[in-house]
Amino acid sequence: MARRKIVAGNWKMNMTPSQAVKLVEELKPLVVSEDVDVVYCVPAIDIVPVVEAVKGTNVQVGAENMYFEEKGADTGEISAEMLVDAGVKYVVIGHSERRDYFKEDDVLLNKKVKKAIEAGLTPILCCGETLEQREMGVTLDWIRLQIKSDLAGVAASDVANLVIAYEPIWAIGTGKTATSDQAQEVCGAIRDCIREMYDDATAESIRIQYGGSVNAGNAAELFAKVDIDGGLVGGASLKADFGKIVNYK
Ligand code: 13P
Repeated sequence: MARRKIVAGNWKMNMTPSQAVKLVEELKPLVVSEDVDVVYCVPAIDIVPVVEAVKGTNVQVGAENMYFEEKGADTGEISAEMLVDAGVKYVVIGHSERRDYFKEDDVLLNKKVKKAIEAGLTPILCCGETLEQREMGVTLDWIRLQIKSDLAGVAASDVANLVIAYEPIWAIGTGKTATSDQAQEVCGAIRDCIREMYDDATAESIRIQYGGSVNAGNAAELFAKVDIDGGLVGGASLKADFGKIVNYK
């Protein structure tokens, strides 16, 4: 069976709550789609108003981060249970900005992935190489290490439902998109890695997105690749173009 595409916006640290509701209203008629799952991953403070604003539409809401502990003395953090109770379905885990600026490592990310799944959230697990790593020729080794570490101890039945986003760091916010062949090579290698770790059925079921300067002009070519099941979109998710990306065909 063909995998259903999933196009998610990662709003990053943009949109106050009132701006967020306005954006949801503007995008409402543009992101209607029968064939594509549409997700807005929004700042924590926007979750409650955005969940309310998307009611009755085809859009689901994701968080951009969460903590792995159940509850307690973790000032400033948000638990998986809080997200679920607020109506969140997806959670971005391991975005390169969190790995880099907030020093999140694979041991921590593995805990977050497990907790998200246990709580009933779908992780959008991010991976990606730096330009230096690409030039050194270690991209696939690096990505495999990230995937293997972040999914260590996660059951096949859970992995089958999750989403992995391949986001080359050199392509994020730079306007430099990976070519569709470069993106396909790595997304295909991620699927092979899942096949090795689990089995064929799990590898064929997991959805793998590309992220990094996706826009209305390049989405169709990227999403046509055999192992690319949609996109994780930063900058272009904050404007009307997002509707064109969702309806890329
Ligand atoms: P841009 O689409 O702005 O390059 O951001 C990509 C990204 O980091 C999505 O998570």
